[in-house]
Amino acid sequence: MQKNNTVIISDDRNSSIAKKISLDLHVEYKNAQLRLFADGESKIRLENVAGNNCIIINSTYPPTDRHLMQLFMIIYKCKQDGASDICVVSPYLAYTRQDKVFVEGEIVTNNLVGEILATLGTTKLITIDSHNPSAVNYSYESIDLTAIPSLANFAKKNFRLNDPIVISPDEGGIQRAKRFAEIINTNMLSLVKTRDRFTGDISVSINDQQSVNKRDALIVDDMISTGSSIVKATELLKKNNIANVYVLCTHALLLDDAKEKLLKAGIKELISTNSIPNEFAKVDLSGVISDYFSSH
Ligand code: R5P
Repeated sequence: MQKNNTVIISDDRNSSIAKKISLDLHVEYKNAQLRLFADGESKIRLENVAGNNCIIINSTYPPTDRHLMQLFMIIYKCKQDGASDICVVSPYLAYTRQDKVFVEGEIVTNNLVGEILATLGTTKLITIDSHNPSAVNYSYESIDLTAIPSLANFAKKNFRLNDPIVISPDEGGIQRAKRFAEIINTNMLSLVKTRDRFTGDISVSINDQQSVNKRDALIVDDMISTGSSIVKATELLKKNNIANVYVLCTHALLLDDAKEKLLKAGIKELISTNSIPNEFAKVDLSGVISDYFSSH
């Protein structure tokens, strides 16, 4: 990365991660000043970035449409000013879960968001533990980084685990769980999750015959949204006589009463990254992002 003309840009909401990255990389931080009007529209002021290599940090967690619009506005301003490059770092990029047509007539919003970013002038996109990393694949350079090593190292350092087993709540998360298990030096098991595409209801089962009896489970997932996947997984593991259940995820959306549901299900700990601010965000992502830029 060329340092002399690089600037890190964020609004206040994303400034904690953005400022740490600017310190790590020794590059200037520019604040995009944000104001919300009474009707919900956003107004953003950003000083001129003509000729700059702009790195915009913006995690588009709920309210997703508002935060996406604010991201679009910042990219638009950079392009209008004549930025030399526009790299968007969106640790949590909204709308990526719909990465294909599941039911005829649906819109693949993962592709829609990617195309809007391209139209606005994005030259590179970085996400973290996107739901389907292979769908982070657009007409411009697009990279999905992972926070799994950081989460695994947190577990290794902070949890006193007894015969741990890493659990993926569904088959889509197997690669993440495998990587986590390698780091804490144990094995993993994937549950099988099916979702009713019309009602959204999920059911979880175990096909793998390996025993979880009296072991500590580390359930690893990309995100917790309503909490239903983790609750179902926890209930199933408890029926199979698991000892303690630790849950680690990259993006803790924790919508509605997700936190209460998880605690009621009997999980022992919940840990997430700070891609979305919440009381469980104990793993900082800025190092993962800075390390990427230091080596590219
Ligand atoms: C989807 O398969 C993801 O990997 C997550 O497991 C899912 O999005 C979590 O959603 P929820 O918390 O609503 O079950």
